Amino acid sequence: MAYENLLITEEDHILILTINREQALNALNTQTMQELHRFFSEDAPKRSHLKGIIVTGAGEKAFVAGADIKEFLGLDAASGAEMASFGQAVFFLIERFPKPVIAAVNGFALGGGCELAMACHLRIAAEDARFGQPEVNLGIIPGYGGTQRLIQYIGKSKAVELLMTGDMLGASEAWRLGLVNHVVPNGLTVDKAKEILNKIAKKGPVAIQKVIESVNAYFQFDEDGFAREVREFGNTTGTADFREGAAAFIEKRKPTFTGK
Ligand code: COA
Repeated sequence: MAYENLLITEEDHILILTINREQALNALNTQTMQELHRFFSEDAPKRSHLKGIIVTGAGEKAFVAGADIKEFLGLDAASGAEMASFGQAVFFLIERFPKPVIAAVNGFALGGGCELAMACHLRIAAEDARFGQPEVNLGIIPGYGGTQRLIQYIGKSKAVELLMTGDMLGASEAWRLGLVNHVVPNGLTVDKAKEILNKIAKKGPVAIQKVIESVNAYFQFDEDGFAREVREFGNTTGTADFREGAAAFIEKRKPTFTGK
């Protein structure tokens, strides 16, 4: 089924997912969140040929300027919690996607936009990118994982300040604090993300998936990340990819991985 608010293009086995509501600075309304859920739960997993996914926003002004504030007015405690719970579920799908997902951030990444970028595995910021969790300006808190992931990336001290003041971070400050992986000139975020995905595509695909799972385990309270690493290390040593990777090293040639 087609998407109304997502643009999906594929080139050289790299999928570019563009949040496409430029007139509302790509704000994540309910329909867009439902489409993101459908894409990451049904559509993307079937595209087994992909090297990875780049998430970006339409237009030059914004990556995503937040959840759609115009839909907030009718919310109460129950429906608000339901909305946050669904949003978190969508972003967990992204964080747990078995192939690399990179946010290419142009302009504003605020509220749900910052949370979307943080759910991706890596973030490339344009020089004009601005990150923030301004929910307190509206009298609410982030609901799509912002209070948790911001601490994971930049530490409690600075995260609490940003969450309480609603201040924005420019791209270089976001890089200095470890929120973004690279800052590039405006217009070049997708190119940089492609370069990284092409580099990762040369590695063992099972290993990449296990890196994602093991790193995510660190942040799950119901899981021992070290035990998970032991298990996944064992699983990767049992793969054909590992036999090929080790043989290629010994034979001084480049490996050809099959993802098995
Ligand atoms: N939800 C719904 N609509 C939004 C939006 C959001 N989060 N962010 C921007 N828009 C809409 C504006 O309402 C406006 O629509 P209109 O032309 O129909 O009035 C359009 O996008 C352009 O935004 P505008 O505010 O005019 O642009 P600006 O350059 O003056 O300011 C921002 C840009 C990002 C600073 C400002 O739009 C903003 O503060 N947005 C909300 C950010 C936020 O609080 N996000 C967290 C939400 S929980």
